[in-house]
Amino acid sequence: MKLRKARNSDVPQIRNLINSMALRTDDDYKHGHMLPRSLTELYEHIRDYTVLVEEAEGQGQGRDRVLGCCALESQWDGLAELKAMAVDDAAQGHGWGRALIGKVLSECEELSIDCVYLLTNKMEFFAHLGFEPIDMRHLPQRVWSECTNCPKFMVACDEVAMTYQGQRPRQTFIPAVGNQASPAARAALGLLPVINNGDQLNGLSADNSPQHAANGSNSNSSGSNGSTGQHNGSGGLMNSDGYSPPFRPHPEE
Ligand SMILES: CC(C)(COP(=O)(O)OP(=O)(O)OC[C@H]1O[C@@H](n2cnc3c(N)ncnc32)[C@H](O)[C@@H]1OP(=O)(O)O)[C@@H](O)C(=O)NCCC(=O)NCCS
Repeated sequence: MKLRKARNSDVPQIRNLINSMALRTDDDYKHGHMLPRSLTELYEHIRDYTVLVEEAEGQGQGRDRVLGCCALESQWDGLAELKAMAVDDAAQGHGWGRALIGKVLSECEELSIDCVYLLTNKMEFFAHLGFEPIDMRHLPQRVWSECTNCPKFMVACDEVAMTYQGQRPRQTFIPAVGNQASPAARAALGLLPVINNGDQLNGLSADNSPQHAANGSNSNSSGSNGSTGQHNGSGGLMNSDGYSPPFRPHPEE
């Protein structure tokens, strides 16, 4: 048996493995061992998956028997989720779960991921392999998008958040920079406060490019709230790093 990156042709077997675990209601866990996954989701995210396979002798690619899987999904600034961890009954208890996790974690450096989290009801297993429980509220809201697809959401959630070696996720703001965004959010993004007469908004240039900002045409004025945001030459907003934001603030209603 060996570990390798998953292939498109592995998807039906991965789905069967995961969904058979999801349907189980053992004594220790009455809601199923893991989240079910659809074929669509698996085909779309197949690059995230590593599989444990029994190679089919003398046969071509795509005929291996899948006995385990685990995925690492990049989700946010420096953050990835370890998910869909399963080892077939026939292969359990031989260190393949540990090996799958090790293989998946080895992808972090190349992806510049510095915090790996997971949501699990198998806390003891993951604690044994270097994960530590954290307060779920330290995870960015982005992670809840998957929770809302879970049949247990709000009614029977029994999952614990853990991160590898107890790493804390970076705190990053979702760029809500409309006129209604809080001054704190605007300051964190290095943007000037919105002036009610609309001068800044009307002045947004079609040329919002970094080159435009870098050619010296900005006025270097700083925000009245002490933020480091600046105007570019045509009155548009720039972040403190000299790049214009990749979005336009909503015009004042
Ligand atoms: C949990 C699971 C992935 C473990 O796979 P496995 O291949 O049997 O695990 P390993 O053999 O690599 O075990 C690694 C270590 O964890 C321990 N371990 C295994 N299952 C455990 C569990 N349920 N609780 C606590 N420790 C466990 C082993 O004793 C072993 O310890 P050791 O290295 O000190 O001897 C497997 O049982 C499974 O697929 N379960 C159903 C799906 C599931 O629950 N997935 C997790 C969803 S969040």
